[in-house]
Amino acid sequence: MIVQFRPQRPFGRRAFLVGALSVSSASLLAACGGGGGGAAAPTAAAGPATAAPVTKPATAPPAQAAPASTATPATVASTSAPGTALTKDTAPSVPNAAAAKQFAAAKLTYYGDAVGAGADFDKAAATRFTQDTGISVTVVPGAQNSTDRFSTYQRLFQGQSADVDVLMIDVIWPGALAPHLLDLAPRLSNEAKQHYSTIIENNTIDGKLVGMPWFGDFGLLYYRTDLLQKYGLSAPPKTWDELEQQAQKIMDGEKAANPTFTGFVFQGNAYEGLTCDALELIASSGGGTIIDQSNKVTVNNPQAVAILNKLRGWVGTISPRGVTGYQEEDSRNAFQGGNAAFMRNWPYAYALGNAAESPVKGKFDAAPLPAQPGSTPVGTVGGSQLGVSRYSKNQDAAIEFVRYLSSPEVETWRAVVGSFVPTISSVADNPDVLKVMPFLKTAAGVERVARPSRQTGEKYNEASTAFFQGVNQILNGQDAAQVLPQTQQRIERLVR
Ligand code: GLC
Repeated sequence: MIVQFRPQRPFGRRAFLVGALSVSSASLLAACGGGGGGAAAPTAAAGPATAAPVTKPATAPPAQAAPASTATPATVASTSAPGTALTKDTAPSVPNAAAAKQFAAAKLTYYGDAVGAGADFDKAAATRFTQDTGISVTVVPGAQNSTDRFSTYQRLFQGQSADVDVLMIDVIWPGALAPHLLDLAPRLSNEAKQHYSTIIENNTIDGKLVGMPWFGDFGLLYYRTDLLQKYGLSAPPKTWDELEQQAQKIMDGEKAANPTFTGFVFQGNAYEGLTCDALELIASSGGGTIIDQSNKVTVNNPQAVAILNKLRGWVGTISPRGVTGYQEEDSRNAFQGGNAAFMRNWPYAYALGNAAESPVKGKFDAAPLPAQPGSTPVGTVGGSQLGVSRYSKNQDAAIEFVRYLSSPEVETWRAVVGSFVPTISSVADNPDVLKVMPFLKTAAGVERVARPSRQTGEKYNEASTAFFQGVNQILNGQDAAQVLPQTQQRIERLVR
């Protein structure tokens, strides 16, 4: 596996180590959670999950909009125990339970996942952790919207609140939140060696490891295999123009029977998700990565104007008018309900779409996102880490919980059942994982682009807000040629 870093000049007080990066081999997993894994040297072999067999069917995941189905994550046979199955309701046992028991009196509060079935996985893991260690855990599913979640964390940290011990940390936040997070290296440095080194670098601020990698993310194009076939389309679109044409063709055919059917759903709401989607569109059109390698703001350029105006043209045509308010779950509900031909989303939607009750089970696949002719397909790097608050009164117990959640056992369980992309190479190589996430191979060669969190440091959230607000205005009808110069200026003021 070769992962190429483009050297970048540190900005401001902190050097953010993960910038734009490209992956040029089949093993793209390394890039999914904030960086590539070319230099990763796992020291511990991760065996398959040790989860106890469970046959109880899972319940419906929480969803923001009315879900189109009562989807359950896939139930997949585990190689470790042939004939048994993993489900999201039963987490693997705690490998180091004996050591953790000394903190049994502690009561932890954990701000966990809220998207898809994330909260169900968190609850199952917390239940098992308490059972094995005696440490109790209250799971608080945070906001689904990453921008809102960031505000919540800022509030909690500003008040030096002891109300939260463990937190899910977006890949773009270590720089901004580092002052409030515990250095995990003294207790978890051996475990950290199992994870891709570039994500560890992303999470290391001023020499402190402020987050343990938990799962990776990157943008994918979901498409309906049955509908492509029905309309004589031999392959998913490779260019954005082809996406438009295919979406229109399928919509035209399907609308009569299903008036709510739409061509393409994505994350158009004014929040962090739109930054990810718009970055993919611009970078795959030769329009750069918002801020370039020499920290120059580049967002206002002819290619960016052209592709964002094209996107504007899709609102109310191949995409629903309401897409300007869509987040991940709105998109997934439309696609999984059988009401969209194409969707831009993260890997978590794969397992949910293939769940027993999903209307699109077995009728879709995921491919690299399209690119303009002459440009390479791009996927924005996303993902989550686990951090411990400096203001926690239960730091020892919190570290044990993070050790468990980021263990090879839990990552394997979450990957196989929930298609959460592992951050540990030995887990990523597990055949069970590759079986449920074929796109890990088929989307190899896609260029991974990082959001400019390294260049903007503590001001990333403000820079991203300037960007997604501008793009959302364009989606709502304004000309990109008018909006992007202002966006450029707003961001320039922040990085100056
Ligand atoms: C996913 C990604 C995260 C990103 C967010 C945007 O959760 O993992 O990195 O910021 O989506 O909505």
